[in-house]
Amino acid sequence: MSILVGKHILLGVTGGIAAYKSCELTRQLVLAGSSVRVVMTRAATSFVAPLSFQALSGNPVSLELLDSEEELAMGHIQLARWADLILIAPATADFMAKLRVGIADELLSAICLAALVPIVLAPAMNQAMWSNPATQDNAACLSGRGIGLLGPAEGGQACGETGLGRMMEPADICRAVQKYLGKKSLSGCSVLISAGPTREAIDPVRYLTNRSSGKMGYHLAQAAIDAGAKVTLVSGPVSLLPPVEANLVRVESAAEMFDAVVGLATHHDIYIGTAAVADYAPIVAANEKIKKNAESMDIRLTRTRDILATVANLPSKPYTVGFAAETDQVESYALAKLKNKRLDMIAANRVGQPQGGFDSEENALWVGWNGGEKKLTMASKHVIAIQLIELISENYRAKHST
Ligand code: C5P
Repeated sequence: MSILVGKHILLGVTGGIAAYKSCELTRQLVLAGSSVRVVMTRAATSFVAPLSFQALSGNPVSLELLDSEEELAMGHIQLARWADLILIAPATADFMAKLRVGIADELLSAICLAALVPIVLAPAMNQAMWSNPATQDNAACLSGRGIGLLGPAEGGQACGETGLGRMMEPADICRAVQKYLGKKSLSGCSVLISAGPTREAIDPVRYLTNRSSGKMGYHLAQAAIDAGAKVTLVSGPVSLLPPVEANLVRVESAAEMFDAVVGLATHHDIYIGTAAVADYAPIVAANEKIKKNAESMDIRLTRTRDILATVANLPSKPYTVGFAAETDQVESYALAKLKNKRLDMIAANRVGQPQGGFDSEENALWVGWNGGEKKLTMASKHVIAIQLIELISENYRAKHST
């Protein structure tokens, strides 16, 4: 049975073209068994008529803050108390800015200010408006206060541009709302994730690196956040947008990543080492650009320190999950790594294949731990990340309940 059965969802609709999708969202929330009351801002009524939402929700739509009849029937405080969850979809940049500051000049923002229940936003706006530092700053601040952010998704926009800013699809919002109402698998846990490649300087303009894109680690960070965890993401140089809710620590070299991760590890419950840390780094990096005078040149390399093994051997170590990228005998090498590095869990993938692994959108994993194993078959890194976070939380909880 859906967790939505009997739940009171207050759906706030603000003024963006994605408001038309909220009609379908209303229908899906009602079909899943919840009672929906829609509150629209004045701007939202320019896109969709209140009557549409009234017909779909089966409840009157609330519009005005200072409507004496409305206040007698179900005023802003009563609406805030009626709800089990407040969902704002679409949430415009303007509404997010208002929410951040606490402006309550119309019904919906007044309800949010009076709310004691979870508030979840599905932002929708032009991609440049979303990536504007003002909006990013507002999103980070709202998320820091515990307000949920769903998306936005990437793709074509009504204005003709392409990028991040589309409202998530109604079915995805519906699923995410169910998760917010349910107990989350990593609620109360802190998770440290290292992601991406490292860069080992040869001189001021050249470095050694590898093909890691950071996608697996960034998807894991988002999945851990969605599972209720507080996430710190230590990232090598990548061209990805981090989840707004993550505490991001940017590093470049393996040595910087070592200092950041080892310094933070004991303050976290779980450490997931997805980073493709360079195994060797130049012994010295030249202070000035090396000139191409010689026909050949030697660069002497030294082993970098193993971050994962160091964390796994700390006296008060977090639950430690390592990754292994192998071209052959994936399971046996991974098992050896689990044992030798004293890990709690290892996630191994086969690299050098046409599908999956480095710099790819998809992955398949073999996951092993002391007393168990599971194969996660080829899927998008987003899906694999959700499955791996569920496995980690089950095993972490099992270990800590004994
Ligand atoms: O030993 P190997 O490099 O194959 O192990 C891969 C795992 O070890 C990954 O989880 C990677 O993040 C981690 N690692 C590390 N520090 C290194 C090298 C690898 O944490 N210097």
